[in-house]
Formats: sequence, C-alpha cells, structure tokens
Amino acid sequence: MNTIYRNYYRQRTANQWRKTPAEHGDPSAIRPFLAGNWKMNLIPRAGVALAARIFDLCRDVKDVDMGFAPPFTGLSTLADYIEPDFLQREYGIGRNVFLLAQDTFFESKGAFTGEISSDMLAAIGVDRVIIGHSDRRANLGKYFGFSSSVARRLSKDFLTHTLKRLSQREQSQPQVLATIEHLLDDKNSDVLAGLATFLEAELNERAGESDEAIQRKVQAALANGLQVILCCGENREAREMRETFKLLERQLRIALEGVARPMMSEMIIAYEPIWAIGEGAKPAPLEQIAEVHDFIRNLLMDLYGEQIAARVRILYGGNVKPDNISAIMELAGVDGALVGGASLNATDFAKIIRFGLPD
Ligand code: PGA
Repeated sequence: MNTIYRNYYRQRTANQWRKTPAEHGDPSAIRPFLAGNWKMNLIPRAGVALAARIFDLCRDVKDVDMGFAPPFTGLSTLADYIEPDFLQREYGIGRNVFLLAQDTFFESKGAFTGEISSDMLAAIGVDRVIIGHSDRRANLGKYFGFSSSVARRLSKDFLTHTLKRLSQREQSQPQVLATIEHLLDDKNSDVLAGLATFLEAELNERAGESDEAIQRKVQAALANGLQVILCCGENREAREMRETFKLLERQLRIALEGVARPMMSEMIIAYEPIWAIGEGAKPAPLEQIAEVHDFIRNLLMDLYGEQIAARVRILYGGNVKPDNISAIMELAGVDGALVGGASLNATDFAKIIRFGLPD
C-alpha cells in the first residue's frame, strides 16, 4: 500500500514517476485539483447552495485546489459567492477555490448564435475552462441529429434535386456531379443504402468536436488569460482494439500544438475513459489509470521536458466517488479528479476533497 500525500513533489527515478511528501506549506509543492463538473444541472441559486454546503464541510481545507463548473447560466452568481475574502472570513478557505466553465468557443465574437467566447468568460471571473469533454467530443451527433440530416442528403430525391441544381451552376465541380450521378445509377442503389446506414451510425456514435476544434479552443482560452482543463479519453471500442495510447497521443498532440512551454506548467489534463463515465459504469481499474497517466506524462516529457512533465497535473475522471478517491490519489501519476455525478452531492464531494483526512 502506498501512502496518500495531500501535497507532494514528483520525481522520475529508474524510469518511474514517484510522489514524495512535501514540506508543510511549501508553495512549490504540487496541490491536487478536485473539480466538480455539474454538467447541465442546477439553477444558479441551487448551485450556490450546493457550494455553500461543500465549503461548510471543508472548513479550513487549504492544501488542495477545488473547482466548480456550473452551466453557463450559473457562472456569474457563483463568481460573486466565491469571492476570496468572503470565503476566508466565512469558511477559513484560502484562495484555492476556482470557477470553471464547461466549454468555450474559439472565435471571440460574431454571428455564432448560442456560443460563449473565452473573453466573455474571463470578464465574469472564470478561472479555467474544461475543453474537449467527451460529452462534446462524442455525443453531439446523437443529440443534434447530424445523422438524420446526412440520411436525408443521401436520399434519391435529394440527390436528384441537388444534381439538377448543381448542373445549372457555372462553377460546379465535375467530380461532384459525377459522384452524384454514380450514386443515382440504379445499379448502385445498394451502395447508396449502405453509405447512408454507415454514415448514420458513425455520426450518431462519434460526431462531435474534432481535435482541431479543441486545439482552437485551447488557444482561445489561453489567449484570454484562462487556464485549461483539457480532457482526453478513449471509448470502449478503442480500448478493446488496443488503440488507447494511439488515440490519446493523437488527441493530446493536436490539442497541445502551439501551446508554448511557459503556458504548460499551469495546464491541467483530465484522463476520462468514456466507458468509465456516468451512472451505471464502473471506474477504470487502478492499474489502467496508473498506466495511462504514466503514458500521458511520458508524452508530456517528450513534448516539454521532464521538469514540466513532473508538474503538470493530470486528473482522472469516471465514477470517482468517496469510496475510491483515496486509492486513486495514491497512484503516483494522479493529481486529482474531475467528478461528475458525485459532485452534485455536498457530502460526497466534500469527502472527495477531504481524501486522506480523518472524517
Ligand atoms: P462521472 O462523470 O463522475 O459522473 O462518471 C465524470 C465526467 O464526465 O467528468
């Protein structure tokens, strides 16, 4: 059994990352980050009430960082409530409470109905933004019906009409016209039906934010003085096909492209295997969490060198609960948790923040 450290240094010896306990109160020690992602839950007042109960149960907890990610509508109200002098007076908590947004958009303003930019978030006191959560990477196609709009475009009626419309245009691409004609040929109706079925299923399962969109969001957040919690994680299929590392490497390399070393030590990465997230799922086994966190840290070492790799906080997310947080925090590569369901319950989230402390 390892020991649980609330604050620690991290070293690499004999090709292995290790935690060693920090001197009490050393500001250069690594502080775990416990973040609650409320997803689409809680009206602003209810969010403040929840935060207040958590602070009450965590009086005087100064040695870890805590973050709260309400929906956009709850940010301003919570920003007012977590004003540092007030928290200090009322709960004895220092400046270790951070306001998180669940997403941001990469453009700063313009005709993007429904989107919120990073400078808007910074202006209302947001500290950090979650980028690339799997709810957005993988599930948007299903929610927004991308698949039905593709299926419609692959119907014979639509294609016939499109062919007519495009052939009347002067600059239509001959290759596009030829493809549509090909698909409309009766001989190829099987191909058309197969393509529609294939794309429908793909988009339902996988359509969402691309790695490139995530890269732009990271850039926009950093340019506006926001820190980032960058999420990555594989789905069950990738895990079963043994493609986890390949996929994580792609997600991280693309998302971090253009992030310079000075910005990197404050970056937080969250490893969230999709198959371990949400009600009914089981958290990832400890050895898999340890293995992936080491993989990510070694990748960061390749990209940014050992010193930064040792410092970057890598959180685990996926069914973190009061009864498993301590074992997860014992792992040498884990620096905190991104918590969904259990962050909506004051007692549970307070226990998670208090991991390793007596009840
Ligand atoms: P969960 O969610 O804790 O409810 O599994 C984690 C997440 O999606 O961040």
